[in-house]
Amino acid sequence: MTVKDSPLPSRASTDSPLYDVVNLSKRYRMGRVELPVLRGVNLSVNAGEFLAIEGRSGSGKSTLLHLMGGLDTPDSGSLVFDGRDIGRVGHRVRGRIRNREIGFVFQFYHLLPELNVLENTTLSTHVDGWLAGHLKRRTQTRSRAEELLEKVGLRDRIRHRPAELSGGERQRVAIARALMNRPRLLLADEPTGNLDSQTGRQIMDVIEDLHRRESLTVVMVTHDRALAKEADRVLVLRDGRLIQE
Ligand SMILES: Nc1ncnc2c1ncn2[C@@H]1O[C@H](COP(=O)(O)OP(=O)(O)OP(=O)(O)O)[C@@H](O)[C@H]1O
Ligand SMILES: [Mg+2]
Repeated sequence: MTVKDSPLPSRASTDSPLYDVVNLSKRYRMGRVELPVLRGVNLSVNAGEFLAIEGRSGSGKSTLLHLMGGLDTPDSGSLVFDGRDIGRVGHRVRGRIRNREIGFVFQFYHLLPELNVLENTTLSTHVDGWLAGHLKRRTQTRSRAEELLEKVGLRDRIRHRPAELSGGERQRVAIARALMNRPRLLLADEPTGNLDSQTGRQIMDVIEDLHRRESLTVVMVTHDRALAKEADRVLVLRDGRLIQE
């Protein structure tokens, strides 16, 4: 068994939260000016929970989500995902958590324009699959991608490139891509923010369906009060802290 194939260790007991964010701080430095964005954020996310985070533009929602996804590093505080502080584990473990255990849907899709829908969906598995060179794994990858694209209603668009898709369709590809490796947590940054309300509704239905049927844990950032209310719990990011309204 190679390192790559070994099961991922899980250190959390069933009654502890899946994600514990403790006293998280992040400031940006622009020349001499310091911009404190997060000033001691605390957050516990239970396994299977659907949590919404609201906040004004510029309040630090994307910053928080990027930190939780291991895409950026905090100034202080801890980010304990399933018993491991992702700010303190080595880059290999962090890479595995980021690639396999946490799925990320970005505010602006981040699809690769030269790849078609199927290729964009399977992107994160390509490195593994191609290096290993296993035909079987590639077949499994493809059927997983097709299953997800079916679920998000894009089964008949797999050869389209992002430029040939609507905004809602692009966001659905991004969701399928985020779920490819069966993550335990989905971090979604304004997944409906750039869509009309009807298309936003469809994206929300896809996420809610995955949450309900597959017990996917979801942390979703949104501006939309009505959508936030559909989550199990809503927190507001204000003045660098998360508060319950
Ligand atoms: N890389 C960066 N360097 C410097 N400042 C940054 C950087 N990224 C974000 N900021 C600043 O940090 C603050 C928080 O940004 P962030 O993107 O987290 O806000 P947000 O709540 O996601 O806003 P929106 O709702 O508009 O997406 C903003 O004032 C922004 O200007
Ligand atoms: Mg943002």
